[in-house]
Amino acid sequence: MSEEKTSKNLKVAYAEESKALARNRLFAEIADEEGYEQIGKLFRAVAEAESVHAKNALRLMGEVKTTEENLQVAFENEMAAKNDYYPGFIKEAEAEERSNVALIFSRARDVEERHAQLYKGALDYLVKEEIVDYYVCGVCGFVAEKDAPDECPICQADKDAFKRVG
Ligand SMILES: [Fe+2]
Ligand SMILES: [Fe+2]
Repeated sequence: MSEEKTSKNLKVAYAEESKALARNRLFAEIADEEGYEQIGKLFRAVAEAESVHAKNALRLMGEVKTTEENLQVAFENEMAAKNDYYPGFIKEAEAEERSNVALIFSRARDVEERHAQLYKGALDYLVKEEIVDYYVCGVCGFVAEKDAPDECPICQADKDAFKRVG
């Protein structure tokens, strides 16, 4: 009996649930902005549920290992995004005169490098003496340690654009 179809289906389930998660989170923000408080809560609740499904699929794919190995995978994924995907995406967006998309891709590329550095640092010091929170820029995804900067170094958003993630 072949398990190939199931392996492929797990990948599709993981990708689709992950997309639904991000989509619902954005829909929740839009609902909040439009004053639909309850609908915002609904989108957030279902987003959380999609996250459960995505994580279940990922576990069943057998790709989740120890933290040390996960850090290595996370580092490699960031480097691949920075070096392999985004440079081509930026060029193509520029060629098609989608300058707003090119800008978002350029920032994402720069932020991926930052994410990679953070993972690299974490690999070097798996157990840190000091426990610090992270602050994530809500505009570009830049991640700061300890405190939010006055201005995001990538997109220049100001301090209140940063969200603390403990
Ligand atoms: Fe990243
Ligand atoms: Fe930013």
